[in-house]
Amino acid sequence: MAENVDYNEIVKDHFFNPRNVGEIKDADGVGTVGNPTCGDIMTIYIKIKDNKIDEIKFKTFGCAAAIASTSMATEMVKGKTLEEAEKLTRADVANELGGLPAVKMHCSNLAADALKKAIEDYRNKKKK
Ligand code: FES
Repeated sequence: MAENVDYNEIVKDHFFNPRNVGEIKDADGVGTVGNPTCGDIMTIYIKIKDNKIDEIKFKTFGCAAAIASTSMATEMVKGKTLEEAEKLTRADVANELGGLPAVKMHCSNLAADALKKAIEDYRNKKKK
């Protein structure tokens, strides 16, 4: 998708130097979501230790805002308990980024949604 929107410096930093990009091969939980607005895809991998997010990585076919917001989201939830992490909303992420252009708010959904799915996946695996 063309990127002719104005991003602030924090967003640009997280887009050009995204934190926690990659894949965790032996992840405890994996969550993938698609964005119905644009068709982009996000996957988040988590490792859990003592009910906390010990490690988190993401891979995406997404736009600059999706990359920046997921980079920020992974930093925000690292070390948090699962209960704290699943409370993360797209508004929390956008605020921490110093705001996103209105047309790009939907992109920040991917991070929170994929994280929730990864936590759900971890809990389902644990039940078995
Ligand atoms: Fe698809 Fe941003 S345009 S996630």
